[in-house]
Amino acid sequence: MSLKFANKKKLALYALLACISACGNVVIAYVTKIMLNSAQYHRGSLKQLVLIALLGAIVLILIMFLNFGYRYLRFDITRDINLKLKDKTISYLVSQQADSQKEGLNLMTNDLKQIESLKIANELMIISEAAAFNISITVGLLNSWLLTVIFVVATIIPGFVQKPFVKDIQNKAKVWEEKNAEYTQAVSDAINGSKTAMLYDVQLPIVSYVVKQAKQMENSLRTLNYTQGAISTLFMTIADIFSFTIPFLVGAILMFNGQIGAGTLVMIVQLSNDFINPITMIFDQLNQIRSTQPIWNKIEKALHFEHSTLSSSDLAFKQLTVNDLSYAINGKNILSNVNFTVKAGEKVLLMAPSGFGKTTLLRLLVGQLTPTSGSIMIDHQNLAGNWRKAHDYFGYINQKPFMFNRSLIFNLTFGKKYSESELTGAIKLAGLTQLVEEKGLDYQIGQNGSNLSGGQIQRIEIARAILAKRPILLADEATSALDNTLSLQIHQTLLTNPNFAVIEVAHKISNREKEMFDKIIDLSK
Ligand SMILES: Nc1ncnc2c1ncn2[C@@H]1O[C@H](COP(=O)(O)OP(=O)(O)OP(=O)(O)O)[C@@H](O)[C@H]1O
Ligand SMILES: [Mg+2]
Repeated sequence: MSLKFANKKKLALYALLACISACGNVVIAYVTKIMLNSAQYHRGSLKQLVLIALLGAIVLILIMFLNFGYRYLRFDITRDINLKLKDKTISYLVSQQADSQKEGLNLMTNDLKQIESLKIANELMIISEAAAFNISITVGLLNSWLLTVIFVVATIIPGFVQKPFVKDIQNKAKVWEEKNAEYTQAVSDAINGSKTAMLYDVQLPIVSYVVKQAKQMENSLRTLNYTQGAISTLFMTIADIFSFTIPFLVGAILMFNGQIGAGTLVMIVQLSNDFINPITMIFDQLNQIRSTQPIWNKIEKALHFEHSTLSSSDLAFKQLTVNDLSYAINGKNILSNVNFTVKAGEKVLLMAPSGFGKTTLLRLLVGQLTPTSGSIMIDHQNLAGNWRKAHDYFGYINQKPFMFNRSLIFNLTFGKKYSESELTGAIKLAGLTQLVEEKGLDYQIGQNGSNLSGGQIQRIEIARAILAKRPILLADEATSALDNTLSLQIHQTLLTNPNFAVIEVAHKISNREKEMFDKIIDLSK
């Protein structure tokens, strides 16, 4: 249930207002009964009749004012739940470190919207419907229990008609969910790849792929909606047959025998709007809620996810030992039996040709990937595949750094507090002083750093690693986008700093830079 994330007091007030709102129908029913019965049996005066109608109207107006609050509260509760779900879901997604955007993007946008319109809204509506149902039933029982019972029984029976269709709806919802994720990814690819597409004039195949995915998604949505609609139609027809013909027959017989007056029959009929409609609505709403089950399962995973933020600072180590490390994807060996050691402060260069598995090796070291065999020992602990423990030891200069579409300062610090001297120190070491002087720290760097040069992006990535002060710095082709002078300069700063060890992987590096390392290992040998 999504309502467990709502504020309890607001929810209680909402239920109360829903009950008051439901009383509108009761007022109409009573006014009708009194009027018709006095007309039929010539009781009271015409003036009294007008007064009763007036009183009814006044009560309805009062209820209208409370209804304003009731409506507002419904959207307010929805907003609260939406925010909570978004918070939990994004925390979970970020911790997944997924390579593909497809699932996550879809979950955060489309899936959560579906949860809002099909689950949260319906759960709230069920409270309102149930209030209307209960109040009308109570009033009905007090006025003619026999007719009320017959109306209710006749209403509930048709509900069983739809039971067998539930599974079918869920399956169709699942298909639609998958198609939608594919569509979202296609849109994201098309927009991100638009520059490449325009350059090579290949918009057509890119666009038609998105349209194809959209078509599949829309088709599955049509199937889902149609199934729901068809079941709903079937149910409503059966409900109509049961809940009108039978009760009216009984009502007519009771009136025929003089057991009830016309006013009471019309009153129960008026009330029965709130026996029948809420029940049909609730069944319909339950179906819609069921259709969100596959999405809700995913969100529940996020909701139950324990976010761990314990990060150990000032980790020291004596030796990192990589022992017979192997890694395979889909049965294909990428790395086999890699062995090397790195001591604290030691500078190690790992050489291998492009596509050999250098990036993969670094991702194994930080624990993003789990090796098929072998161990990664830091002192006496095997940290292979253990992201939580391993990552705190490493700074990581990525081959393809990711830049947030925010300011330069945010991209350097990620919002963490650093002293003025730490910051200027790191900026200087990474060769960013000139950029900072020219653009300022608040410079907006654009989506994935589109307002920066490739080399500037790489230097930001280097500054991030320096600021983080981890005992081992992993560098993946760290200076490949920089000119020789800058590359040399950055190597000098990284490779002469005794505070951290460096493991750099590269396939191309100058001899002068090679000389600065303590150890060079050729992985391909
Ligand atoms: N998720 C993946 N699924 C399948 N194969 C992969 C995956 N990731 C990497 N590979 C393959 O593993 C091999 C090693 O990739 P890796 O990125 O580690 O190479 P690299 O040595 O860093 O290359 P480069 O010097 O070009 O950066 C490549 O053949 C690559 O195609
Ligand atoms: Mg690589």
